Amino acid sequence: MVLTTEWQLLSHPVLCKFQHQLWICQIQSQDPQVSGNKALKLKYQLAQAVQTKNAGLLTLGGAFSNHLAATAAACHSLGLASIGLVRTDAIDLGNPTLSACQQNGMQLIAVSREHYRQRDHLEWQQHWQMQFPDYLFVPEGGTSEAAVRAVSEFPLGQTPAGQADCLVSAVGSGGTLAGLIRGAGSASVLGIQVAPDPGLSNKISRLTEGATDNWQLQPALHLPAYGKVDNTLWEFCALMKQQGIELEPIYTGKALYNLLLLIEQGLLGQGKRISFFHTGGLQGLAGLAYRGLIPSADFGQSNAPVAG
Ligand SMILES: Cc1ncc(COP(=O)(O)O)c(C=O)c1O
Repeated sequence: MVLTTEWQLLSHPVLCKFQHQLWICQIQSQDPQVSGNKALKLKYQLAQAVQTKNAGLLTLGGAFSNHLAATAAACHSLGLASIGLVRTDAIDLGNPTLSACQQNGMQLIAVSREHYRQRDHLEWQQHWQMQFPDYLFVPEGGTSEAAVRAVSEFPLGQTPAGQADCLVSAVGSGGTLAGLIRGAGSASVLGIQVAPDPGLSNKISRLTEGATDNWQLQPALHLPAYGKVDNTLWEFCALMKQQGIELEPIYTGKALYNLLLLIEQGLLGQGKRISFFHTGGLQGLAGLAYRGLIPSADFGQSNAPVAG
């Protein structure tokens, strides 16, 4: 996979007030369906599947998962098969994420919420691995040692204006942040946690093997429940879109909005160069529109407020 990097300088009154420079970093592959942290997290796992002649990848996620969508697309373009264990009672092919997965050849298997809760247990993973022995098992969100390594090698700190003082990302399963921490050098790392998870900090510490303690995890101050959108977040995403920065409100929009709130509270001090990792996930907009949580998958068509 050939990856390209694009940097954009954000302009915002809060940044002027604290004399910060905030760079947004986006990563694209040749396939627009595989971008952001997914392009990095899947990199070595795809290479391993090709090298060891696996039939494909076996992975899991929610019904609107960015990870499932990216895995299906990446496998498709490499001629690999893919299987998605989907946390849902029934596979709904009206759902744009699952429909795209299916179009990319992913075999979709519905897994009840109760069963899905066991996903981190070794026996659960072995159960599925035994069903599909030719497939490489990829944990939820793609988070594995190989994913953390790939993120750590990515030069997120090298902004066009010079080395960043602080690296920032949205945090879900923790793999992306763990990679940033491992590769941060002298920069500090800030993760904005988009959903409550009491075990997350320990998980990230394990994944980073104590590389540095110059990092922190901040819960989103402004936090509609995970997967939900409110007017404030949606309006923020629309405002960013006017600056040419397209966000979705579940991960990148929520993280950037909360970063500005934290800056306003003085968390990052003054005069810093900040690098914000745009982790992708724009495919999720169609799913939000499908569920009626935003008015349109295309910001350009409507900026009408949503129920919040
Ligand atoms: C768009 C987007 N950003 C950020 C994250 C969080 O990444 P991680 O699960 O590595 O913490 C995810 C999770 O999959 C995501 O889809």
